[in-house]
Amino acid sequence: MNSSFRRAAAVLALCAAAPALAQDLDDSKDNVAGPYVPTPWVIVDEMLKLADIRGEDVVYDLGSGDGRLVITAAKRFGARGVGIELQTELVEMARIGAKHEGVADRVKFVQGDLFQADIRSASVVVLYLLPHYVTRLVPRLRAELSPGTRIVSHDYPLAPWPPDKELSMDVPEKEMISGTSWTRLYYYVVPARVHGAWELTLPQALASAPLVMQITQEPHAVGGFVRDGGAELTLRDLAVRGEQVRFGLLYKGRLMAFEGTVAGDAMTGEVRARDQRGPWTARHRAPLPR
Ligand SMILES: C[S@@+](CC[C@H](N)C(=O)[O-])C[C@H]1O[C@@H](n2cnc3c(N)ncnc32)[C@H](O)[C@@H]1O
Repeated sequence: MNSSFRRAAAVLALCAAAPALAQDLDDSKDNVAGPYVPTPWVIVDEMLKLADIRGEDVVYDLGSGDGRLVITAAKRFGARGVGIELQTELVEMARIGAKHEGVADRVKFVQGDLFQADIRSASVVVLYLLPHYVTRLVPRLRAELSPGTRIVSHDYPLAPWPPDKELSMDVPEKEMISGTSWTRLYYYVVPARVHGAWELTLPQALASAPLVMQITQEPHAVGGFVRDGGAELTLRDLAVRGEQVRFGLLYKGRLMAFEGTVAGDAMTGEVRARDQRGPWTARHRAPLPR
């Protein structure tokens, strides 16, 4: 990133509390998810690395400030990107920055409220917002983003959703911003939506009729069981990562290991038992909400 752009960005950061910059913010609406504090460049690098940005990605920054995350993702990795920002001065600055860096055709900066924005086309979302607002976004991120979408949050976790990865680093310039140089990055992969009742079909040799499988999926945990007459057989180590699903089941004295893929209302994959292996499918018993 060019040094004049960096210098201008630093000056804007120092002016964050100036009334002129705050004119578009309306605290009474409770949608101001944080003041303008730009992510230090060394952390920009780490966030984009952690998100594993590729050319085919569409990177959304919710509260994009001067646009540095989206502009760097486009310039360095050839990604496309969208920044959503309340403050018109910052949107303008991000657009100028994008032109300056030669990526204006790959990125878009929208003046608007991140809580109202359509984020469904993101394949990566980056955030640097106050903790209460990060938490408020959790249900939307999990409901609206496609399975497999990666999210990196600077400093604040998407509680109560446990991160898939965490990274800690010491960044001296953060001392001025947050009173400590200790910085944490939280990485998440949006899981496929598997909550509800499914009809599970196994190879004939493993189960002669379809079974009913019930899954409960919450941000903090996922679990389930299969009905066997009056009994509930727990799904063991059920894990959903992006579109991939995995679990174990002890059924009629056989321990079976399932691996598969979720695509909307259907799951397909392979089941392995000690003496058998074959395909399995599951179909959601009522259409999943889109
Ligand atoms: C801490 S700064 C982060 C800027 C940038 N993402 C970065 O990491 O450098 C948070 C930004 O979110 C913006 N913001 C706060 N609430 C918002 C909202 N509801 N919609 C859009 N932007 C918002 C602020 O104006 C500010 O620029």
